[in-house]
Amino acid sequence: MEKDNNIEKRPSPSKLFTRRRMLTGMAACAAAVYTDMRFIEPNWLGVGKHQVPILPNGAEPIRILQLSDLHVSHEVPLDFIDAAVDLGLKQNPDIICLTGDFITKQWNEWNAYSRILARLSKSIPTYASTGNHDGGPMMRTRGGLGTPNYVIGMLEKADIPVLMNQRQEIALPGKVPFELLGFGDLWEDDFQPRGLFEKNHARPVRVLMSHNPDTKDLIANSEWELMLSGHTHGGQLILPWGSSPIAPVADKRFVRGLHHWNNHWLHITKGVGSIWNLRLNCHPEISLIELTSAA
Ligand SMILES: [Fe+2]
Repeated sequence: MEKDNNIEKRPSPSKLFTRRRMLTGMAACAAAVYTDMRFIEPNWLGVGKHQVPILPNGAEPIRILQLSDLHVSHEVPLDFIDAAVDLGLKQNPDIICLTGDFITKQWNEWNAYSRILARLSKSIPTYASTGNHDGGPMMRTRGGLGTPNYVIGMLEKADIPVLMNQRQEIALPGKVPFELLGFGDLWEDDFQPRGLFEKNHARPVRVLMSHNPDTKDLIANSEWELMLSGHTHGGQLILPWGSSPIAPVADKRFVRGLHHWNNHWLHITKGVGSIWNLRLNCHPEISLIELTSAA
């Protein structure tokens, strides 16, 4: 009797076949998703384009190229960043803003990196600000650099001024002058806006470079028109069932794209590289922001 019962409990050959097919299908599906996340989407570099109506009436448009979160590393090679530079220069920008996270943790090939970024500054005025991965007290505890000075040195060698809580007057030929303000990173305790927002009626438009979009709340009542941020990588891994974005910011409303908020404009680019260089439903991008007349 016992022997007969055991025979009855065994799955039928057809059920075994179905289960095996299901497991094989799941494994194939996981392999396909991983291939997409690691080898297809991270290389699918696009151009995000937006218009921001903040210039005085009749002013000529100003084209800002924003590159952010380059994250050079074993996973994001210099060749890929070189290709992003090529694509950026093809957009014919008037000015270029680099908004932080040039590295992920450590980097040694500073001269090669500098030569690639110098291609930007050779033909177009280019400015930079730093991100949390570029070094500081937080990254020191996570295997990164304890100071952003290596990144700053690399940028200066590329003739790219780094605005570390500084403002710069920008006067491009044939364009209305404006102010560019660059900030240190929030998480590295380098975000220090005090004294930077004094009124300057001669420069009615202010554009900010601040890596972490959460910094908007700290300067919400100051006078500025547009903040260029990165940091979120656009969410990087966007799950198909539409859950809250996975992004290292407190305010999950502003993870990517252009937003009008509290009488200011915010642009958060999805960035060029990323950590581990994994992306899902979130292609990397360079961003072209055209400032236009408000009327
Ligand atoms: Fe980043």
